Amino acid sequence: MNTLLTPALVIDREAMERNIAKMNGILEGTSMKLYPHYKSHKCPAIAHLQLARGAAGITCAKLGEALDLAEAGIPNIVIANQVVQKEKLPVLAALAGRCRLTVCVDHARNVLDLEAAMAEVGGKLHLLVEYDVGMGRCGVSTQEEFLALAQLIGQQPHLVFEGIQAYAGQLSHEENGEKRFADVQRIEAEVAGLKAFCAENGVTVREVCGGSTGFAHEKPKSTVYTQVQFGSYLFLDRSFQPLELQFEQALFVQTTVLSVKADRVVVDCGVKTMTMDQYPPYFPAFPGAQLSFSEEHTTILVSDHGLQPGDKLLYVPGHCCTTINTFDKVYVSEKGVVTDCWDITSRGKAQ
Ligand SMILES: Cc1ncc(COP(=O)(O)O)c(C=O)c1O
Repeated sequence: MNTLLTPALVIDREAMERNIAKMNGILEGTSMKLYPHYKSHKCPAIAHLQLARGAAGITCAKLGEALDLAEAGIPNIVIANQVVQKEKLPVLAALAGRCRLTVCVDHARNVLDLEAAMAEVGGKLHLLVEYDVGMGRCGVSTQEEFLALAQLIGQQPHLVFEGIQAYAGQLSHEENGEKRFADVQRIEAEVAGLKAFCAENGVTVREVCGGSTGFAHEKPKSTVYTQVQFGSYLFLDRSFQPLELQFEQALFVQTTVLSVKADRVVVDCGVKTMTMDQYPPYFPAFPGAQLSFSEEHTTILVSDHGLQPGDKLLYVPGHCCTTINTFDKVYVSEKGVVTDCWDITSRGKAQ
C-alpha cells in the first residue's frame, strides 16, 4: 500500500465486509429491506457488491447518479429526492424505461409534470410522497396534504403510488442515545399513523422509506419502515464517532509527509481533498493534535513525531460521503495489500 500515489483514498475491505454483515444482522427478522444510499460511495462496483450481499435496490439523490447506476446494470433504483426541473423530466422518463425507477414528490405541480413526461414515452414511474418528520427539508407536513397527493398520483395512468418517504435526517448525528431512541419511536408512531390514515381513506401504502446509519440500531423489530436507505454504515467517519455505533472505520486517506520540523509534520493533502462539512478529519497516529489546513497541505502540530519526508500517514475522513466525492478512484486494501481499484464513477454528479 505504501507505493500508492498520494493522497489516496483507501477502503479496508475486511472492515467494510464486517459492516455489511452487521447491517444485515440488524435487518434480519424485520420488515426492512436494504436500499443502501449511493451518496456514500458513488461507485457502481460497491453498489453491485451491496446487491450481492442482500440489498434489494439502490437509493441515490440525483438523476445523474441514477443514470450511472442504470448504465452499470442496477435494476431497481430509488431517487430519494425530488426531480423538478422541466429539462430533466424527459431524461427521467426515458430512464424509467431502463430500470424500475422510483422518485419522491411533495407537490401537485411536480406530479402532473412527471405524468406529462411519462405520457410521452409510456411505461410507469413509481412515486413516494415525502413526509417531513422533523428535518425541515422537503416533504409535506400534514396527513391531509399527503393523502391529496397520493390520490392525485392514483389518478395518473403512468404513475404508481408506492408509499411514504420519511427521512429523519435531524437524528442522524444525535449524540444523546436516549433522545435518539425516543425520537425514533415517536417518528415510527407518527408514520404508522399516516399509513393508517391513508388506509382509512382507501389509499394503500406499500412502502415506507428512510433511515440513517446513526439510528439503525434504534429501529424496533416491529418497525413500520420497509425500505431503509442507510449509507454511511459501510465506512463510518469522524462525524459518527461520538455516537459509539457498532460499525467500524473502513475508509481512510493515505498521505505522504512532505516536510517536518521539531514541532510539526506537513502532509500532501489539504482542503481540496478533505471535506469539513461535518467534522474535520483526524490522524489516528496523532489523535489530539491541532491541525491547520491549506489547499494542498495539512500541518499537524506535534513534537517527538519521529517522521521523515516520504513517510506515510493515514487520516480518517470527517464525513465519508463528501470525501468520496473528491476522489476519482478508491483503492481496496486487504490486510495492508492493495487488491483492487474501483472507479468513483458518480463523483461530482450533482445534477
Ligand atoms: C434521503 C436520505 N436517506 C438516507 C440517508 C442516510 O445516510 P446515512 O446512513 O449516511 O446517515 C441520507 C443522508 O443524507 C439521506 O439524505
